[in-house]
Amino acid sequence: MRTPSTDRDPTADWAEVDEYLAQTLLPEDETLELVLDENQAAGLPGIDVSPLQGQLLSLLVRISGARRVLEIGTLGGYSTIHLARALPAGGRVVTLEQAPEHAEVARRNIGRAGFGDVVDVRVGAALDTLPQLADEGGGPFDLVFIDADKPNNPNYLEWALRLTRPGSLIVGDNVVRAGRVAHEEDTEPAITGTREFLTALGEDPRLEVTALQTVGAKGWDGFTLAVVR
Ligand code: SAH
Ligand code: DHB
Ligand code: MG
Repeated sequence: MRTPSTDRDPTADWAEVDEYLAQTLLPEDETLELVLDENQAAGLPGIDVSPLQGQLLSLLVRISGARRVLEIGTLGGYSTIHLARALPAGGRVVTLEQAPEHAEVARRNIGRAGFGDVVDVRVGAALDTLPQLADEGGGPFDLVFIDADKPNNPNYLEWALRLTRPGSLIVGDNVVRAGRVAHEEDTEPAITGTREFLTALGEDPRLEVTALQTVGAKGWDGFTLAVVR
């Protein structure tokens, strides 16, 4: 008989079920598998969204009917490709990445996936490229995915609000961090930044918000979803 899961490492169960669900629900995807291989070969950290989470991003683009998407934090473009592939014809993604070496890998991956003309990868600290985007009249975006340096999440929320319109969706990644966000004594900047981000989401009368905890291949974490009123 199977070992009761209470006696096992729960993270192993989460990963096993994630694998099962991904196998059962998602088609084989050589393009996305190649992206992860390329990222690994280039030495990028394996902190992309999981396959099922990426598919959630695709579905959010489809459900919301988004045509213009802004991503803060590109890494190798794994989440970017999920966002781009769900767009209608003529849709665009602008994705912001600080590390030139990440942006280079992302551009190559995105080009190979066939979205070179859909995705604009902008290199620089997002707090520099966001004002540029605003000055260009780059908004309004229909969906914003916030997934970069967590201490700046409260600032990214302010920029997301400036660059969106009523009805836009703002998604935040990594808001649970294995429960650390609820541990008041944990004052690491990534955690306090996330906590301030959550507080700002909860207090902002311009937003209608929820959070979703997730377990799976990437451990225990979560997303926020916010719609601009
Ligand atoms: N969205 C990606 C993962 C992003 S990881 C995916 O799921 O596939 C976070 C990325 O944010 C890293 O590539 C990191 O270099 C970038 N980053 C960190 N600080 C940043 C900043 N200040 N401005 C823009 N990007 C930043
Ligand atoms: C980290 C960042 C992420 O965006 C993520 O999804 C997982 C981990 C990190 O900085 O550790
Ligand atoms: Mg993330």
